[in-house]
Amino acid sequence: MEQSLIKQLESMALETAEATGKLLVNDRPKDLSVATKTSETDIVTAMDKAAEAFIVEQIKSQRPHDVFLGEEGSVNNSNTPSNVKWVVDPIDGTVNYLHRHPIWSVSIGVKVDNVTQVGVVHAPLLGETYLAVKGEGAYLINQLGKQKIQITRNTTLAHTLVATGFSYEKEKRKKHGQVILEISDQVRDFRRDGSAAIDLCMVGLGRVDAYFETGLHPWDYTAGALFVEEAGGKTGGLPGAPLSDELAIAANPGVFDDFATLIRENYKKYY
Ligand code: IPD
Repeated sequence: MEQSLIKQLESMALETAEATGKLLVNDRPKDLSVATKTSETDIVTAMDKAAEAFIVEQIKSQRPHDVFLGEEGSVNNSNTPSNVKWVVDPIDGTVNYLHRHPIWSVSIGVKVDNVTQVGVVHAPLLGETYLAVKGEGAYLINQLGKQKIQITRNTTLAHTLVATGFSYEKEKRKKHGQVILEISDQVRDFRRDGSAAIDLCMVGLGRVDAYFETGLHPWDYTAGALFVEEAGGKTGGLPGAPLSDELAIAANPGVFDDFATLIRENYKKYY
């Protein structure tokens, strides 16, 4: 992989995520107009759309032929598309953003020939940015500077703090609730913070030990999954398959196999 290209993509992803974060904080109108998407709970705000348009404009001004996969529908409109794809969630945690809950992020994953090379998850109100570069590592960037992250290990399910999230589809929500109930006596506790991208980075940072969710989309997990892997953690999905829209699992390597088995067995019962 050409190192100068990766460096360029890394700095563009970082700069764009941080500038988008500023826009989302500073330009938030008093009355945020809200529309619904797949269900009553699946919302999009005017700021999701404005932020995604801003991201696409920033990237295109430097790399006009790159391809986009954006939550709010951005695709490629170049006749000569490049091999670089930007997987973008302008606000991961839109419900939190609407409610002024501070856990939301700008998530940007960059794929070259379909392999994720760079992941940036920027959480403006936490004052943190999580950066991952394939083969190079995972980094926490905050007011103290840039620090390389190595995941911490726990080895028992009983000590595992689990992050999770709920799909916007009613039936999937109920099934997910059943799975949580089933495993609730085998793990330490659960956290539902409201941004899948941040949840994944929390696994990499060792602030939680494991994460699972069903019904995600690539823009929710592309950047965060690279962060987990580059921090030394593991990700997966259905048995024998990588993390996917159907099932996303991540954990520190000490507990991954036991946790993934537990989730897959219970997933099978309800889905
Ligand atoms: C959502 C968040 C949430 C997760 C949902 C996602 P959005 O993304 O990541 O934590 O539970 O499944 O759809 O809609 O806020 O970009």
